[in-house]
Amino acid sequence: MGKRLALQHHGIEASRLVLGCMGLGGGWDREPVTQAHVKQAHEAVEAALSAGINMFDHADIYTLGKAEEVFGRVLKERPGLREEIILQSKCGIRFEEGPGRPGRYDFSKEHILSSVDGILQRLGTEYLDILLLHRPDPLMEPEEVAEAFAQLKRSGKVKGFGVSNMSGGQMRFLQSALDEPLLVNQLELNLAKLDWVDAGVHVNQAAGTGVSFPDGTLEYCRSEKVQVQAWGPLARGLFTGRDLAGESDAVRATAALVAELAEARGVPREAVVLAWLMRHPAGIQPVLGTVKPQRIADCAEALKVELTREEWYSLYVSSRGERLP
Ligand SMILES: NC(=O)c1ccc[n+]([C@@H]2O[C@H](COP(=O)([O-])OP(=O)(O)OC[C@H]3O[C@@H](n4cnc5c(N)ncnc54)[C@H](OP(=O)(O)O)[C@@H]3O)[C@@H](O)[C@H]2O)c1
Repeated sequence: MGKRLALQHHGIEASRLVLGCMGLGGGWDREPVTQAHVKQAHEAVEAALSAGINMFDHADIYTLGKAEEVFGRVLKERPGLREEIILQSKCGIRFEEGPGRPGRYDFSKEHILSSVDGILQRLGTEYLDILLLHRPDPLMEPEEVAEAFAQLKRSGKVKGFGVSNMSGGQMRFLQSALDEPLLVNQLELNLAKLDWVDAGVHVNQAAGTGVSFPDGTLEYCRSEKVQVQAWGPLARGLFTGRDLAGESDAVRATAALVAELAEARGVPREAVVLAWLMRHPAGIQPVLGTVKPQRIADCAEALKVELTREEWYSLYVSSRGERLP
């Protein structure tokens, strides 16, 4: 029941939880990386490893490259670590670079290849375990992406490939041109943003017309053994202690229910919120956005929690704020 990770079908022994590294490296600016940022990265990595986490998620854009840069410092200062972990990064998003060079998505072969060179250089490693295309590029040519992937695979720079924020239809289209199986789709999934559950529940109903989650995406991933990863899994702390001033009654009631379930089990609230995601049979891998050691440890307690069907539905319906159809 959702226990086996799809990645295992591809021979990748990843932990159930992934540490997201978007919070490392300081601000999204051109200020240099400091010793404090390196220390923070060391502490986050240590907390993750202690919690049994062996997979780390990056993107070339995070803190404008500094997240990868500080992580590279950690790898350099911890010899042997690189081989023990699964490193994932993403490319394809380009920020505005002055007049005539707007913010854009770029799945051209040239951009994918040069992005990977930048990622490897910042991380100070010779290979990435998994490269994700960050957001769908409307100008994507699957054959061109296939050429880039084949070249990266041949050169040993990237071992496996995946996508992020893509629909099942987009994946099927891209996959048709690839020699390699897509291994991952990383999507925003959590207890606050419920479109991914509502889409299935509201089939054939007027209430479903406003649901934005692309039909068949989770089903495609499950049947094709694509690892579903959840970004934003903690809903940025909405149900686990963040200030709720101005939030709806449904959010307050759900935060209270999370607290009640956590107390009954003697676990932190984060464990309940993540266990809710992991109870879904898609075998979701939450990508944690916190870099605080204590919160990382709290999140890891989710592995001890198995919610009942009744608890899962109670949380879902509470957060929906309305009864099931
Ligand atoms: N593929 C994509 O398009 C995409 C987009 C965004 C992110 N990501 C990836 O997914 C990871 C997670 O995303 P996310 O950061 O949005 O997820 P998240 O895990 O839902 O949120 C983490 C953020 O919430 C804060 N937070 C958690 N609990 C809190 C509480 N009780 N009170 C106050 N603040 C709290 C954390 O702060 P503290 O650090 O203080 O704990 C952190 O800033 C990222 O690191 C990145 O790797 C991918």
